[in-house]
Amino acid sequence: LAALGAQSAHAEYPDHAITIVVPFAAGGPTDKVARDFAEALRKPLGNQAIVIENVGGAGGTLGATKVSKAAPDGYTLLLHHIGMATSPALYRNLAYKTLDDFEYLGLINEVPMTLIGRSTLPATNYAELAKWLSANKGKINLANAGLGSASHLCGLLFQQSLKEDMTTVPYKGTAPAMTDLLGGQVDIMCDQTTNTTSQIESGKVKAFAVTTPARLPGALLSKLPTLDEAGLKGFNVTIWHGLYAPKGTPKAVVDKLNAALKTALKDPEFHKREEALGAVVVTDNRTNAADHKKWVEAEINKWGPAIKAAGQYAD
Ligand code: MLT
Repeated sequence: LAALGAQSAHAEYPDHAITIVVPFAAGGPTDKVARDFAEALRKPLGNQAIVIENVGGAGGTLGATKVSKAAPDGYTLLLHHIGMATSPALYRNLAYKTLDDFEYLGLINEVPMTLIGRSTLPATNYAELAKWLSANKGKINLANAGLGSASHLCGLLFQQSLKEDMTTVPYKGTAPAMTDLLGGQVDIMCDQTTNTTSQIESGKVKAFAVTTPARLPGALLSKLPTLDEAGLKGFNVTIWHGLYAPKGTPKAVVDKLNAALKTALKDPEFHKREEALGAVVVTDNRTNAADHKKWVEAEINKWGPAIKAAGQYAD
């Protein structure tokens, strides 16, 4: 009877608003993905309200820690990105174990990054930017969203490829970083197309390259060279976003959330919003919980050594 009782209790799930914690400031790329995704996730969950809570700081680890310690009842979830795989190499005393303290609910999308700069930079393409960077060694301000953020990872590898140390200016997300870039307070930043496309289109920032192996589609972004073709051979950073719950969330709830994620990823409205921002919705087996977890484990093993090797550039 108890098992039946437990089962039926979960059959009612969700019977009140669900909170999705975004571990970066509102208005940034992670927040954008979360709000778009929540809109699609509500439908298969009986149109239950989904509240986005922004918990920025420390490259996303503060928000992730909060969710790792939340009640495992399915009402506090985490939407995070590649930082789930880079933070273990960067934070010696991380307050959670990435592979043990979360239930994996599926991978959502993959987002390219762009290398952008303040509009007053005296460079109009990547070659001129590279010359300006080497002529101004030690005076460059590179913005990011903190140790472990996607923007930090890309900036770290960019500095390592150029063999140039820059002053990194961390923010609680790339939305506040973008504000300072627009104001000319910082020089360059790597950020996801979800945050940069509109700024590039408006001419308020200069775009120099993309971080993906292949050029991006679309009239505007396709003009940007990849960093690989611009000379940084093998440069390849693509940001992915996944959904997580605290470890111990009942399996019936995990299964219901994973099924709802798969339905949401097929939502044509969601696809349209993602495509408009250069993001690619995941359609392979990484939408399964087990394969999502395997993916994160592989990414931890991939980025760990690269981050440790680049350690001298970490801010
Ligand atoms: C990052 O740079 O890690 C995040 O994209 C920043 C953000 O979402 O604000």
